[in-house]
Amino acid sequence: MRIAVPAETEANETRVAATPETVKKFAGLGADVVVQRGAGLASGVTDEEYEKAGAALASSAADAVADADIVLKVRRPANGDLSAYKRGALVVSIMDPYGQDAALAAMAEAGVSSFAMEFMPRITRAQVMDVLSSQANIAGYRAVIDGTAEYGRALPMMMTAAGTVPAARIFIMGVGVAGLQAIATARRLGAIVTATDVRPATKEQVESLGAKFLAVEDEEFLQAQTAGGYAKEMSKEYQAKQAALTASHIAKQDIVITTALIPGRPAPKLISAEMVASMRPGSVIVDLAVERGGNCELAKPGEIFVTHNGVKIVGHLNVPGRLAATSSSLYAKNLWSFVETMIDKEKKEVAVKWDDELVKATLLTRDGAIVHPNFAPKA
Ligand code: NAI
Repeated sequence: MRIAVPAETEANETRVAATPETVKKFAGLGADVVVQRGAGLASGVTDEEYEKAGAALASSAADAVADADIVLKVRRPANGDLSAYKRGALVVSIMDPYGQDAALAAMAEAGVSSFAMEFMPRITRAQVMDVLSSQANIAGYRAVIDGTAEYGRALPMMMTAAGTVPAARIFIMGVGVAGLQAIATARRLGAIVTATDVRPATKEQVESLGAKFLAVEDEEFLQAQTAGGYAKEMSKEYQAKQAALTASHIAKQDIVITTALIPGRPAPKLISAEMVASMRPGSVIVDLAVERGGNCELAKPGEIFVTHNGVKIVGHLNVPGRLAATSSSLYAKNLWSFVETMIDKEKKEVAVKWDDELVKATLLTRDGAIVHPNFAPKA
């Protein structure tokens, strides 16, 4: 059984799909692990460390994946790279499959069984495999660090001989996994933290972290959480009430961090150009939803945009990748936890349980066809 870890090829992708720790675990199951030279460097892992953990090194991605039964990636393989993959190989990564018909077709055509880690069901057994949570948690932390670095003042209150520095005010919009970590991080740095969400369950979570909750708590708010634990898209009326409530609050904030998402929909627009204009010069907005259209009307993907009134709007892409070593170590553990369930430990070979609910939820392509219900051609 051979497991390959090619280097990531997408610009800005600093993470890697295996760490020395997970290489050792796979080797312990009897796998031959092959890592492409340099694959871990941007995450602070050297080739020597992989070798010490039991991996062999390959000079190219094609050499790494040749004959591999399992390929571990952060991002889906580029279409052109798939010809080097063995038919029937398992490819496990964040697949970002929506609107990527050509990529799905290419993986089907290559005959690989591709698994989208982001489709992992959020059930207790799969918590250790939940890449959305492991990476969103890092993004929430990093958003506060990025916002703080762009902000020209200190966060905690300081009483010094030369005068008193007031504590900064930080407002977190959207309190899922990323937002909760952002609240905790901002609190640790000494800021005065407020937060908002449309799901009622978040109120208690916000308060238990020592922040103040602010939201339009009407009938619609009470119904805003889906059975899956996600937010619904709110009505135009609710959005207007929410904007009215948050507008005057945003005007008084030093840093605003937005993390609001709705599954399968563009990110809700929560900060208008007018609200940005109401903020003081030197204030900072960090928009974590920028890859999904942005929560702030003025955010630009991949840029730090400074408005005419001196507000900085931070739109970094791949925020988990800005803390690559930590993100990689958690992501690699998520992959290990899932892939391990697809290995027969006695026979030391790949043994996928195709009926397992985790396999069925994540499997995109198999045996030359697109098989996931969200993408399979309609009968
Ligand atoms: P997400 O990334 O889809 O959205 C982030 C946040 O934005 C959510 O809290 C959402 O309510 C909020 N939001 C959406 N529209 C908004 C609006 N108009 N205004 C303000 N906020 C808005 O959410 P994430 O982080 O994936 O978490 C979703 C749920 O899943 C949470 O309840 C979380 O606790 C739960 N979860 C469960 C896990 C499990 O294994 N059981 C693991 C991880 C998360």
